[in-house]
Amino acid sequence: MIKVNNIQKSFGELEVLKGITINVAKGEVVSIVGASGAGKTTLLQILGTLDTPSYGELVISDQTVSNLSRTALANFRNKHIGFVFQFHRLLPEFTALENVMMPAWIAGVKNAEAEKRGKELLSDLGLANRGMHLPSELSGGEQQRVAVARALMNKPDVLLADEPSGNLDSENAGMLHDLFFELRDKLGLTVIIVTHNEDLAARADRTLRMADGVIVS
Ligand SMILES: Nc1ncnc2c1ncn2[C@@H]1O[C@H](COP(=O)(O)OP(=O)(O)OP(=O)(O)O)[C@@H](O)[C@H]1O
Ligand SMILES: [Mg+2]
Repeated sequence: MIKVNNIQKSFGELEVLKGITINVAKGEVVSIVGASGAGKTTLLQILGTLDTPSYGELVISDQTVSNLSRTALANFRNKHIGFVFQFHRLLPEFTALENVMMPAWIAGVKNAEAEKRGKELLSDLGLANRGMHLPSELSGGEQQRVAVARALMNKPDVLLADEPSGNLDSENAGMLHDLFFELRDKLGLTVIIVTHNEDLAARADRTLRMADGVIVS
């Protein structure tokens, strides 16, 4: 599903990724761990096509993304990749349901269709009666589940999460972690999670350990 070949990334003089090569199979859950500053977020942003590498090749779902124009890349990202961040990044002035529907609006899906799917997703994630609430009216765990629903809206192949439970108590973190594995089992989603949470890292099919811009194990 994802092929990363010798990806390097520098910010000016600072070499942050020094040659990363990984292959991730469809339906695999991979965790990425490592000390602060190791380059985990930088790698995830590149995998998600939110940032471009200084060198190297990235293939997602048989598409070599390094060759795509800006617009083509935005379309590709909207359709194929879902993101969950440490802080939910929901838009505060939109309801939970509207936030979930946002990626479909961007993709040009009809409103009625987007609303139907948005409601189904919220219901699947135990938020059936929270759709009309603003993000500020939801608990941290609920906000993160809305963010997951939003990430799933356009039926991505790949879900990328950067410290998704970093801001949650252990009960809500546990629920969120269970959700990632359910999504893999139900939808065959490929999931890559950057985490400092040892339990979550250990549950993944594979753990990549990063240090100083390289994968050490
Ligand atoms: N846009 C940028 N410009 C310059 N330097 C950057 C930029 N983004 C990241 N860096 C640097 O790259 C290095 C890796 O950062 P990154 O955010 O990938 O680390 P991380 O492994 O995610 O750390 P953490 O666990 O603290 O989130 C850091 O030294 C950081 O300061
Ligand atoms: Mg980070």
